[in-house]
Parts: sequence; C-alpha cells; structure tokens
Amino acid sequence: MKCSLPAVAGACVLLFGAACSRVPERRTASGVPLSGPLIPSRTTMVTAWEFPKNPLVDSALDDSRLSADIRWGFRIFMNTPGEAARFTPSKVSCNNCHLNAGQREKSLPLVGVAGMFPEYNRRSGRLYSLNDRIVDCFLRSENATGASEASDAGVTGNERKTLPSQTSTEVLAVSAYITWLARGSEVGKNPAWRGQNVIPTGALIPVAKLDPQKGASLFNERCTSCHGTDGQGVAVGDKKPGPLWGPDSWNDGAGAGRVYTLAGIIRYSMPYLDPGSLTDEEAQHVAAFIDSKPRPVYPFKQQDYPTEKLPADSVYYPRR
Ligand code: HEC
Ligand code: HEC
Repeated sequence: MKCSLPAVAGACVLLFGAACSRVPERRTASGVPLSGPLIPSRTTMVTAWEFPKNPLVDSALDDSRLSADIRWGFRIFMNTPGEAARFTPSKVSCNNCHLNAGQREKSLPLVGVAGMFPEYNRRSGRLYSLNDRIVDCFLRSENATGASEASDAGVTGNERKTLPSQTSTEVLAVSAYITWLARGSEVGKNPAWRGQNVIPTGALIPVAKLDPQKGASLFNERCTSCHGTDGQGVAVGDKKPGPLWGPDSWNDGAGAGRVYTLAGIIRYSMPYLDPGSLTDEEAQHVAAFIDSKPRPVYPFKQQDYPTEKLPADSVYYPRR
C-alpha cells in the first residue's frame, strides 16, 4: 500500500484523534509499516533505499561538529570504499551486511546497541568499547589490514599508517552515527531485535557434515541473479552487493568468515527478493560454500580467542 504521510496522519486524526500523531514515524517514506524502529525483515528489496532515520534529511540535526560527523558516519556506512578509502581496500560497505544503514530487522541491526558497550568480546577476551567494535569491522569486514600490507610494507607496530584506531576520524564519525541511532534508548538495556541473526542451536549441522557442493547449486539457483556466478556482485539499480569472496571481499578474520555467523545473515536477509525463504539447513550449506572460497588473509588470527575456545565454525583458523 502506498500512501503519502499527510494522508495517513489525516486518517488517523479522524479515527483516533491526537494519539495518532506518531503514526507517520512508524512507516517508511513509501508507506511500509515499520517493525518498532526498523524496516521489517520480510519486506523485499523494494525497501532497500529507505531509512527510518536518515541524518542527511533529519531537520533536528544542526550545523554543529557532532551533526556533521553523524552525517559523515552515515555516508561512510553507505559507501565505505568511497568515504573511508584508506581503511577499505575491499569493495565492501558496512551497509552490505547491516542493511538499510543498520536499521533493518534481522540484518544485524545497530539501532539502540550503542548503550550496550562496553561489552565483553569473546574473540579478543576483553571489554570492548563501541569504537573497538567499529575498528574490528574495519580491520576484518573491510579488510583494512590489506591496505596496510600494501602501503606499510616493512613498517611495524605503531608506525603503521593505514590501520584504523579508536580515534581515527572515520571511526569517530561512524561511532557518532551509531550512537545517534541509540538516542532515546535506555543505556544497558539489550534491544529485543539484537542478536536475532542466529541459526537455532538445535538446527546447527556439524561443519564437517555441511556440503559446499549443495551450497554451490543453491547459490547458482537463488543468488547469482544479483551476486553473479563469480560472487563479485551485479548492480541492481544503484545498489551493488559486496564481493562474497576473492581479493575484494571481507577477510578471513571477519565474523562472516564463520560459517554459522554467515548462515545467520543469509537465513534472514537473503535472497533479497524473498528473505526468509531458505531453510536453516540450506542457509548453512550456502554459507559453507561461500566460506570455502579464498579471501584476503587477516594477519593477526593467532591473537584471536586468547582465552575462549576457538569456535567450531571458524573454518579459516588453524585448529589449536
Ligand atoms: C561482511 C559483513 C559485515 C560487514 C561488511 C560489516 N559488518 Fe558489522 N557485523 C557483522 C557481523 C556478522 C556482526 C556480528 C558479529 C558477531 O557474531 O558478534 C557485526 C557486528 C557489528 C557491530 C556490533 C553489533 C552489536 O549488536 O553488538 C557493529 C557496531 C558493527 N558490526 C559495525 C559495522 C561497521 C561500522 C561496518 C563498516 C565499517 C561493518 N560493521 C561492516 C558483519 C559485517
Ligand atoms: C535480488 C537481488 C539479490 C539476491 C537474489 C540475493 N542477494 Fe544477497 N545481496 C543483495 C544486495 C543488493 C546486497 C547488499 C545490500 C545493500 O547494500 O543494500 C546483498 C548482500 C548480501 C550479503 C552481504 C555481504 C556482501 O558482501 O554483500 C550476503 C552474504 C548475501 N547477500 C548473500 C546472498 C545469498 C547467499 C543469496 C542467495 C541465497 C543472495 N544473497 C541473494 C542482493 C541480492
């Protein structure tokens, strides 16, 4: 159903009086009803261009330095290779995995999560601030370590110029955007929509039993129209998925390099014209296929999981 905002508001005032004045906020610009603050997980790619909160058009933001960084953080999130080029040798944007700029249900949404940090991080065995978490996404999902390999060859430790840190301007801007997405949320209260991209434990198939061949045929049937047979992504309007493998993809230390984690992304947000249509089992076979492919090497894997057990689905990590 398409209806303009004034029409919705008008009908509401007639039916329910002033109590309905909030209704327009609960729909996207084209009239799709929201799920809480988020784009619903079952809508198809038609909503790919919509943002429940968009700092570029939000009149509550002013000319301050903070507002400018919130807007830049959003632009980095949407076009990471273009806006944060020095940390993004890959062709992957944050938005490729966190759909609708981190505002879509069951696509790793980031609304209201800023107030949950600092939080214990299993992979690094210590407390993580929001900025630590963002740095990790740059290092791994954006393969920032690949940039440092090329331009810092022979340089060690603190002299590395192209590794992002908690105070890099790009990281601060993305942090400003994600923190803005948590305005009005309660600090320390876990949002109900967080952590939903998981395959239920009872449906997990042991990694050794997953069949990348089966995954490959599913991929050819259900995914190549947008991702290409080479997995590098086909433009759909002005949208292009990130490369799913190869030198321009996320590296092998990324969360998506874990089979169950990747299956959890795919299970609920893909295929984009019919999200939720794969079974738990199918999502795992496809993920096993994608994570059987070569991708850039994250050079610090041996420093991960210093205290916790290496997860069973970390297929790119040497067993220890
Ligand atoms: C290849 C997919 C992918 C890309 C690209 C990606 N992320 Fe993520 N992100 C993930 C996954 C998967 C998780 C959850 C990891 C886990 O299981 O803990 C995550 C988690 C996060 C979290 C923590 C969310 C929470 O609820 O605790 C933040 C913040 C985040 N990402 C920000 C970013 C930013 C900023 C970028 C771009 C610089 C980015 N991500 C790019 C896959 C991705
Ligand atoms: C109708 C087009 C379409 C189909 C079909 C589709 N995807 Fe996607 N996919 C996209 C788009 C577009 C994005 C990026 C989303 C964005 O940036 O808004 C994406 C993102 C992804 C991502 C995030 C990582 C990255 O590098 O972009 C994964 C993983 C993924 N798709 C897997 C799959 C799998 C597996 C299938 C088949 C089961 C599939 N997709 C089918 C359009 C599609």
